Amino acid sequence: MQRSKIAGIGYYVPKNVFTNEDLKKYMDTSDEWIQERTGIQERRYADRTGETTTTMGVKAATIAIERAGITPQDIDFIVFATLSPDYYFPGCGVLLQRAMKMKEIGALDVRNQCSGFVYALSVADQFIKTGMYKNILVVGAEKHSFGLDFSTRGRNISVIFGDGAGAVVLQPTQNQNQGILSTHLHSDGDSAEILAMFNPGTHGNHWVENPVATFDEAEMGQMFMSHAMIDEAQNFPNMDGPAVFKKAIVKMPEVVQEALTANGLTSADINMLIPHQANLRIAQFVQHKLQLRDDQVYNNIQKYGNTTAASVPIALCEAWEQGKIKEGDLVCLAAFGSGFTWAGALIRW
Ligand code: UT7
Repeated sequence: MQRSKIAGIGYYVPKNVFTNEDLKKYMDTSDEWIQERTGIQERRYADRTGETTTTMGVKAATIAIERAGITPQDIDFIVFATLSPDYYFPGCGVLLQRAMKMKEIGALDVRNQCSGFVYALSVADQFIKTGMYKNILVVGAEKHSFGLDFSTRGRNISVIFGDGAGAVVLQPTQNQNQGILSTHLHSDGDSAEILAMFNPGTHGNHWVENPVATFDEAEMGQMFMSHAMIDEAQNFPNMDGPAVFKKAIVKMPEVVQEALTANGLTSADINMLIPHQANLRIAQFVQHKLQLRDDQVYNNIQKYGNTTAASVPIALCEAWEQGKIKEGDLVCLAAFGSGFTWAGALIRW
């Protein structure tokens, strides 16, 4: 069976740098707290009206397509991962298809948050392996800065996230020593509310034990988004950070080990691990658990914060551009986040 290979890769981050000092203008926080707890020094924020999740995705995709030596018209399928879409619906995939003047190809949006890119890559990999498509564009992009609570109330989340996009073009290869070796996807819906943005949504408080906002007949039409929801900041993401942390440091090494075992390899064989950039401390835990040296792991959360679906492709692209990933190298991707969902992939570059 043929494999899929990454034929082109690109990333884009907005010009606007937002430092930890800048955040202090809005909330009670400190550079010391943020760096000590997360490793983040600064992040990028998109232009408020000039850039969207899709336009950033287009910029990353343009580079990836060019590096693959093809044109946007050669792309025959799009998989777009994001939790911060331009519209509630339709998804960013079709907006990218329009913006890049692509043919009337299929466009699929993936909503798996931090593991979204690895999930999207896995979906694309199956389509290539079965021979259904030849040039699949996989994008991970986020514009978090538009949807965060910048008051002290939201500081445990807002200081972490940043904006950006990454993209790859997947193509078939007959070379058995190259390409995606395997992907591994997992979920645990019991923890759905531990890291979630509840509104707007159609839940009608169904899952909520002690709802802040209640509904009655008179509020028909406000159930999707009400004044009470906004007053109670329920339109912002919620996170029990320590609970996410504890699970991430178990599940990320676990999925890497699963991928290695599936291919008869060990962690010593990994040339480069690209962990989802959620927190430098999480990445260090994962590195330690897998007994990897510093040169076997790439982190850039210090510069960009957590860019969710974009974090893995941005880090992968940067590491490759810096010459840290070479032909024949064994590259491992691992991500964990809201859902909970987590995923891993092994690639022979
Ligand atoms: O990519 C999606 C998946 N997300 C993650 O993987 C996130 C995983 N979790 C984490 O990275 C960490 O839990 C955080 C960085 C979010 C928080 O770090 P922590 O060491 O777990 O801190 P904490 O939430 O236990 O809070 C400790 C203290 C609290 O104050 P008290 O109650 O001890 O007085 C917080 O109110 O730190 C306070 N705090 C802050 N202080 C200054 C929370 N956020 C901030 C802040 N600045 N930004």
